[in-house]
Amino acid sequence: MENILSGVKPTGQLTLGNYIGALRNFPKYQNGEDHVFVFIADLHALTLPIEPETLYNNTRDIVAFYLACGLDPTKASIFLQSQVPAHSELATILGNYAYMGEMSRMTQFKEKSSKLNEKKIGLGLFTYPVLMAADIILYDAKKVPVGEDQKQHVELARDLVIRFNHQYKQDVFVLPEPVISTSGARIMSLSDPTKKMSKSDANGDIFLKDDPAVARKKIMRAVTDLGSEVKYDKENKPGISNLLVIYSSLKEISIEEAEKEFEGLRYGDFKKAVADVVCAKLEELQTKYKEVIESGIIDKVLEKGAKEASLIANETLKRVKKVIGLYGAK
Ligand code: TRP
Repeated sequence: MENILSGVKPTGQLTLGNYIGALRNFPKYQNGEDHVFVFIADLHALTLPIEPETLYNNTRDIVAFYLACGLDPTKASIFLQSQVPAHSELATILGNYAYMGEMSRMTQFKEKSSKLNEKKIGLGLFTYPVLMAADIILYDAKKVPVGEDQKQHVELARDLVIRFNHQYKQDVFVLPEPVISTSGARIMSLSDPTKKMSKSDANGDIFLKDDPAVARKKIMRAVTDLGSEVKYDKENKPGISNLLVIYSSLKEISIEEAEKEFEGLRYGDFKKAVADVVCAKLEELQTKYKEVIESGIIDKVLEKGAKEASLIANETLKRVKKVIGLYGAK
């Protein structure tokens, strides 16, 4: 049995891209051999300015939609990063093993800090990957499913593990590996299908909380391509290809099967069919989301998750403290 760890930053509302790329696979993961730890990286959300209310509501919504998508709190541990203090503690320790040079070379740091006033780049943004390494290391996770944009951070965690184990001449930490999700993982924006559908971009994104009528309009207005054939061709037909991925993922059929369905039909007919499956899915998820919110189970789920997570996280922390010579550690 292994531990699988999945983290999400509550900086925006969940999109259809998140659902297809990650959420819909949770039930599959939790029913396997491995134990699944799913957490909300709420401390990471603080690395860029965020309104307290936005952070609060996003966090609640993500947990609610996770449960709505079938994540089962009796099988998986669902928790908040901020409710398991071991994350912050290990990050404080690990920070001493990470180098300024490698941290300043992190793509995400360079990208995000370049958009900020130079005098107002937070230290938390700089040390972001150290906290993320702590998240991963605490659970002895071997496989870490992440998007392409987070691969470099998992690789930094690997480097820290190797460095640490080497320095203390023992296998204190387990070596993690990024698992990049492939099919359906890259749902693109409807208004610019060369860009990813992201949590924080209102145009061209379908949010799981969108009114189905609004979602339908977005799809009907989605950018398509020259030509008239409904064919998967990422290079020349990025818009149609994106809609084909959405359609086939939600219907659980292959792209080829989807192409066959729309042979000889026009873009408009195809879009209508895409809108139908998307709206049906949104309605289904929103009904369950409402049930979850009204049932008031969220706090209980998080409390249970934090307890389960702390059990293993504190064990790892104890191991580290002992190895590095912190006197109180037994
Ligand atoms: N940084 C990740 C993101 O922005 C979220 C995250 C934080 C994470 N800690 C993690 C993902 C640990 C996997 C493992 O998407």
